[in-house]
Amino acid sequence: MILAQTAARNVGIVIFAIVIVGFLVYLFFNLLEGRKEGGSEIELAANRKPYFDDDILETRKLDQSLLSGLFLLGVIGIALPLYWLGEPGRHEGLVDNTLELWTERGAEAYEENCSACHGGGGAGGIASFAITEQGTGEFVASVDWVAPSLTSVLTRFTEEEVTYTLNFGRNGVMPAWGAPGGGPLTAQQLEIIIVYLRSVQKDADAVQAAVEDGLVEGARLEWVARDPELSAELRDAHFAVARANQTGISSLIEDAQSELGAVQAKIGETFPNDEMRAWLDEISDPDHEEYLTYGRLLFTNRADAGAYGCARCHTNGWSYDGANDLDIAGNPLNEVDGEPGYVQGGGWFGPNITGGAEVAQFPNVDNHIDFIRKGSEDGVRYGVSGQGGGQMPGFSNRLDEDVFVVNEETGEKEAVNWPPSLTEEQIAAVVEYARSI
Ligand code: HEC
Ligand code: HEC
Repeated sequence: MILAQTAARNVGIVIFAIVIVGFLVYLFFNLLEGRKEGGSEIELAANRKPYFDDDILETRKLDQSLLSGLFLLGVIGIALPLYWLGEPGRHEGLVDNTLELWTERGAEAYEENCSACHGGGGAGGIASFAITEQGTGEFVASVDWVAPSLTSVLTRFTEEEVTYTLNFGRNGVMPAWGAPGGGPLTAQQLEIIIVYLRSVQKDADAVQAAVEDGLVEGARLEWVARDPELSAELRDAHFAVARANQTGISSLIEDAQSELGAVQAKIGETFPNDEMRAWLDEISDPDHEEYLTYGRLLFTNRADAGAYGCARCHTNGWSYDGANDLDIAGNPLNEVDGEPGYVQGGGWFGPNITGGAEVAQFPNVDNHIDFIRKGSEDGVRYGVSGQGGGQMPGFSNRLDEDVFVVNEETGEKEAVNWPPSLTEEQIAAVVEYARSI
């Protein structure tokens, strides 16, 4: 379309040039004619000069006038449709340019305001956060809170829901950015950041690859947990890093981190990727006795800073890896029955879904699955007694009628269809797990 636009512009330039040249030629001959004047004023005054006789006026002169009229008509007849033909191109060029400009400016605004926590290009990252005692406000620990990757956020939330999160921040960990929440950015700045986010969304294959990488990581830790010696070794290494972090002495931190890295490398060799993938393949079968473990690994998936998992919202402490971190008194931040760990699904930002709560909320499993596919909608009721706040993400694909992409094969404009975060099989597995806890 930009091509059409330049073609129309070229035609315009050529016509303009013809008109200018024509005018100059006319001027030239006119002046030449003027210069020929001379002699007695009475004889040559323009209004007294005998004009052409009727013979010439009615033939040659008439033909000349008609012809030049016809020529002008022809020029207009060609130029006007050409101009109108170029109009959509110009309009589209404007839209394209605006989108391009917004994406560019959004990228700048993103890098300036968001990348410190969410990583370059929305890849996901970490926010430093101080945990304090509820009520007293006493300092408990400084933690690394995962800031989810934003490269698939537009499939799980509508742009309106993302705008809400940007306006008001999230749980005090992410500050408010929009004016309604007292933040520093204008509505338009938020809008261009979202336009930028459209440009960094992953395609379906990349999302699935990330989900599967997260599952492999989770599977490995599952196998470590089944080996008491190895899991004690890993936990000690994590705690050593936590203690070193609290000293703030960089040489100590580096040493502890390299020790942790060594343990992790050993674990990687003990439980290699291909074995983990093969095991995941087996347990993803609904008839396998460890099918619920597969569901739990989906629930706790840490890939892309937790973007595809549930635990970051439904499990207290999961976002800052509290079972592997210590408070200033040296105790694990998250414990279950005196052991470092989590109450999966015990509730945090999202409600507590344990103790059969979900079977009561969704007596029909299909409704439960449908809720996970679509997520909640602000002000819309769900299940038996649920009241949606628009904050529970949808894990299936999301068709957005307001955002268009050009189909590369047909060249047609289509509503964008953001790829699913989880496959239908994965959604069924995570629901099965959620109903079991
Ligand atoms: C101080 C660190 C920090 C900054 C800066 C920050 N965020 Fe966040 N953001 C977070 C954290 C942490 C979360 C997750 C909060 C939670 O776990 O409840 C989050 C959550 C989000 C979410 C919800 C995503 C989801 O899948 O649940 C969106 C969207 C988001 N941020 C966008 C942005 C944008 C856009 C900017 C820049 C204008 C930004 N954030 C700046 C830390 C930050
Ligand atoms: C970004 C945070 C977030 C993530 C991630 C998330 N949830 Fe939620 N979830 C919520 C919130 C918040 C609600 C409450 C409804 C609302 O506010 O819209 C909720 C509600 C629910 C409910 C209904 C609970 C009830 O009884 O009212 C279920 C079930 C649920 N989530 C399951 C899941 C599962 C399974 C996953 C992972 C596939 C998941 N959630 C991921 C935030 C989240």
